[in-house]
Amino acid sequence: MKLGIIGTGNMAEAIINGLLKGKGIKPHQIIGYDLNRARLNLISKKYRIRASVSLEQLSKNARMILLAVKPQQFPDLMETLKPWVTKQHLLISIAAGIDTIFIQKKIGFPLRIIRVMPNMPALIGLGASVFYANRQATKSDRKIILKIFSSIGIAFEVKNEKLLDIVTALSGSGPAFAYLFIDSLVQAAVKKGLEPKLALKLASQTVKGAAGMIQDRGESPAELIAQVTSKGGTTLAGLKVLQKKKLGAIVEGCLTAAVRRAEGLRKCHSSESF
Ligand SMILES: NC(=O)c1ccc[n+]([C@@H]2O[C@H](COP(=O)([O-])OP(=O)(O)OC[C@H]3O[C@@H](n4cnc5c(N)ncnc54)[C@H](OP(=O)(O)O)[C@@H]3O)[C@@H](O)[C@H]2O)c1
Repeated sequence: MKLGIIGTGNMAEAIINGLLKGKGIKPHQIIGYDLNRARLNLISKKYRIRASVSLEQLSKNARMILLAVKPQQFPDLMETLKPWVTKQHLLISIAAGIDTIFIQKKIGFPLRIIRVMPNMPALIGLGASVFYANRQATKSDRKIILKIFSSIGIAFEVKNEKLLDIVTALSGSGPAFAYLFIDSLVQAAVKKGLEPKLALKLASQTVKGAAGMIQDRGESPAELIAQVTSKGGTTLAGLKVLQKKKLGAIVEGCLTAAVRRAEGLRKCHSSESF
């Protein structure tokens, strides 16, 4: 297996790091290409992967190509990549808001395309990825993708591409929502007199630990809330404020806005090109 990677930025680095740690693939089986030569040199030296001088060279040497450039850089990439893509290639895109139909129309013929939405904690092996495979993609393509993205965290498949808009909002943008919650906890504790560094350590470890309890013990958030809340206690006093200020409605509004933006990006790319 050879994997070509176009755009060796942050997400690509997370994937390369995870794949090599998982030992399912050797550095020489990964071929990178980036318009930013300094970045490509840095990544190829750091991970000992091969660096390609052109899209032609990369496409001839890898049947599986990961497209990891920013969404706004995607249309230009499609134009320059198109001449080198054949029916034998599997294209894997991680670009937010770019759907498989867009890619197929740009390439000009039906081919195997898998769209994946990973997230940033992939950098530390704690990513959450969801993928959608188009009709041409095979069972073995889907198996490989599951293996690749499981090496950087957890990975799931959805059969309806539109669900990726919700995933983009939930797990793609979600880390930022969690950072804001952690930062709010820190700011409030600092105002009450706690030292900032200690407050950040406590708040981030608390959120990490709470998430770990859900994942490791298989209990629901509601069950765990009941376990840590006693009548007349501090937790109940705090929870009452969150309920009164309608945290649920705030979070729903936040997710709805992010989903709408993901849908908008997708539609904007579609209308721009056809
Ligand atoms: N970061 C996240 O949390 C996250 C989460 C889910 C999905 N994603 C998706 O992952 C993709 C990559 O994001 P990122 O944060 O890794 O971006 P990034 O760090 O900017 O990396 C993209 C790299 O591709 C290069 N590039 C641009 N156009 C190119 C072309 N035509 N041919 C070859 N290389 C090209 C860029 O060079 P220049 O620097 O010179 O532009 C840059 O080095 C995006 O589509 C994003 O939607 C990201």
